[in-house]
Formats: sequence, structure tokens, C-alpha cells
Amino acid sequence: MKITKLLGYQVLDSRGRPTVAASITLEDGTTHTARVPSGASTGKHEALELRDGDQLSQKSFYGSLAVSQAVENVNLRIAPAIVGRQVDLNFIDAAIREIDTTSNFSSLGANATLAVSLAAAKASAHAQNLSLARYFQPQGNLLIPMPMVNILSGGAHANRSLDFQDVLIVPTGAVSFTEALSWIVAIRETAAQLGSKAGMTTHLVADEGGLGIAFESIELAMDFLIEAIEKVGLEIGSQLSLALDVASTQFFSNGIYNLASSQKSYSSADFVSYIHTLVSTYPIISIEDPFAEDDWESWNSFMQIAPKNVQVLGDDLLTTNSERLNKAIKQSSANSILIKPNQNGLVTDTHTVLKAAQSAGFATVVSARSGETEDSWLADLATGWRAGQIKVGSTHGSERNAKWNRLLELEQIEKVEFSRPFS
Ligand code: PGA
Ligand code: ZN
Repeated sequence: MKITKLLGYQVLDSRGRPTVAASITLEDGTTHTARVPSGASTGKHEALELRDGDQLSQKSFYGSLAVSQAVENVNLRIAPAIVGRQVDLNFIDAAIREIDTTSNFSSLGANATLAVSLAAAKASAHAQNLSLARYFQPQGNLLIPMPMVNILSGGAHANRSLDFQDVLIVPTGAVSFTEALSWIVAIRETAAQLGSKAGMTTHLVADEGGLGIAFESIELAMDFLIEAIEKVGLEIGSQLSLALDVASTQFFSNGIYNLASSQKSYSSADFVSYIHTLVSTYPIISIEDPFAEDDWESWNSFMQIAPKNVQVLGDDLLTTNSERLNKAIKQSSANSILIKPNQNGLVTDTHTVLKAAQSAGFATVVSARSGETEDSWLADLATGWRAGQIKVGSTHGSERNAKWNRLLELEQIEKVEFSRPFS
């Protein structure tokens, strides 16, 4: 089936900032649209998100955050290469790679390339009469990912009310996604009630839908969350565990990890032992970015001492990038990778990174960004790619719930199994 039109344009993300949408129209008259997300605690090694910046900021009321340049690249540089051709994700991604040969899509912008690549994936699935999830896995049981869900937010997503970025829950003992999600909603609700009873400000919803409660230390935040879990009547260990996204690059400078809320600073070596103490004392099953994006030594030494059942998860460290993943595999710097398509820029290349990680025995966690849209393609990618785990933020805000709801839908209408990587 041929592509008759490709159109890029600006739409809004969940923070009310402009982002890129791309619509591919096929010769049967159907149109397939994708919208890309945007991060706030972005890693230095991510593919480039092209925004207009100061020079072009006079062009519209969106100012420097506008993505008009990226949109123009879709319409003037990518469209001529693919309109009139058969719709095929592999062909389109290869065409994009030919137009922009930089390693980080700094010419077209990764927001432009990913928008087109995702629209191409949706249109290719349609041409084969498949859902996006089934396009990647046509036969057998789809694997519904285990969710890792944000309850308490800090860092760049909540005005630094807590130094660490997220305190999350992994409902390891749930037998279905439907059950898993119901536990999470109950815990978030109970945490909000406990917080307001204790006079905390709980109406502040952070960028990813978590509760933006201020805590002096991560220990106090986890104690609070454990209290909420116990109040709900769920059992820590057998039914669920905690996870942290430290996002430590955000508070690392000049070789020092600075925790502002608790007024403590640590050398790299001291932070390694502090993190070790945390994962040994608290029921933490996964710890993301405990060390800064280029502090490889700390990652390597932590992996030597980390309890074997703890997932050591690289986000800013690995940025969904093959070279950085290979380095981490070789040096044993982590044992799992966060997969964010917009850190990479293309659907096919993101899938390649995921497959390479899986072959190396790494766990894979497909992830949304703090700036999201109502688009739910992430749920289909996670499921079709058999990622095993997914991280979307909290259970608040339709840009988050669009992904959860799509997983609920897949669990109802498809032949599926529920991934239980920790049991
Ligand atoms: P971001 O953060 O989307 O704001 O970059 C998400 C994360 O660190 O996992
Ligand atoms: Zn992260």
C-alpha cells in the first residue's frame, strides 16, 4: 500500500509544551498519526530533541520551545523521500537514516524522526491488517509487561520536593495486569489520604502524575509509602516491592552527589555505599540511575556488591544507545536498561537496542517520558516487543492512563500472558 501524504505539525504535550505530530495517509484513504513525548531530566547522550531555541523564538508565541524547525524537517526533508513509496517501517527508517547521518539526529531532530517512524509503524501495521502490538509479534501469546508505577515524585518533576526523582511500586505478585493496576490505584489513593491527614500538601500532582509530597529524605518517603501499602493490606515482598529512580545526574556535580533536602553530600565512593545500604535495608527490587550518566566507575563498583536480585537500571547512563549499552554489557555496569524511543530517534533502532539487551541477559523496561501525549503506542511496543516491564509514571492524568488503559484493553481482547520477571 502506497503513502500518499506525510504531514508534520505541532501539538501539545501534557506540560502544555509543543511537540511533533506526524500523520501518514495511505492510498486506501486512512490516516495514521503519532505524537512524540519529551523529557525533563534528559540525559546528555540522548538523541537531539530539536526545539527552535532563542534564535527562532520570535516566530510564535510558543517561543524557544516551539518545534517548528523539526516540523519543517518532516514536511520538507522527509516527506519527499517517502511519499509515493510503499509503506514499510524498515524502508522509512532507512530513508530517514540516509537523510540524517549524524549519530544523534542533530540534523533532522529526533522528535521529527521518531514522529515519522512511529506513524510509519502504525501505518505498516494497518497495511497488514494488524494492531501495532501484533505487527511486532503476529503469533502466540502477547506478553503484557509488569508495570513499575510512580507514587511519590521529586527531582525535576516535582520542584525538587525530594532529591530522588521517583519512588515507585512493582506489583510483583499480581497474577494479571488488571489486578496489578488495581493495587497501585489503591496505594496511591491511600498515600494521598495519609498525607493529607498528616497535614502534608498532597494536591500537588507532579509531571508524571505522582504525589509531589515534600520529604526531607528518601528513607522518610519510603517509610511513608510502606505505611500506605500496609494500610491497604498488601504484603511487601510476596506481593510487591519498591523501586527507585534516583536520577542522580541531576544532583551530581564536580564529583560530588549533593542531596539538598537532607543537606548531605557524598563522594562517588561514599554514594556507592549509601546506595548499597538503601537497597539492603529497604524492600527495593529495582534502582534506576543510582549514579550519574558518566560516572561509570561507580556503576561498575556497585554492580560488584549489589544484591543479586536487585535490578540495576540504566536510563541516563544508557540512553537507549547501542554503543553505551555495549560498554555497559562489557564492563558489567548494570543489569537492565530503560528503553525510551525518543532517546534513540527511530522505532527500528530502538527495537534493535532492546533485542541486544535481551540477548545479553539484561532486563528491559520500556518507558514513557515526563512530557507525554494521549498517544498509547508505548503500550503496544512494550507488548509486541516482549519487553517484560513498562514504566509510564503514575495512575493519574490521561496521558498516563492512555497507556494503562491500552494494556487493560490488550489483556481483555488478545491472547496474552502477564510478565512476572521477579517471581
Ligand atoms: P524524563 O524523566 O522523562 O523527565 O527525562 C523520566 C526518567 O528519568 O525516567
Ligand atoms: Zn530515569
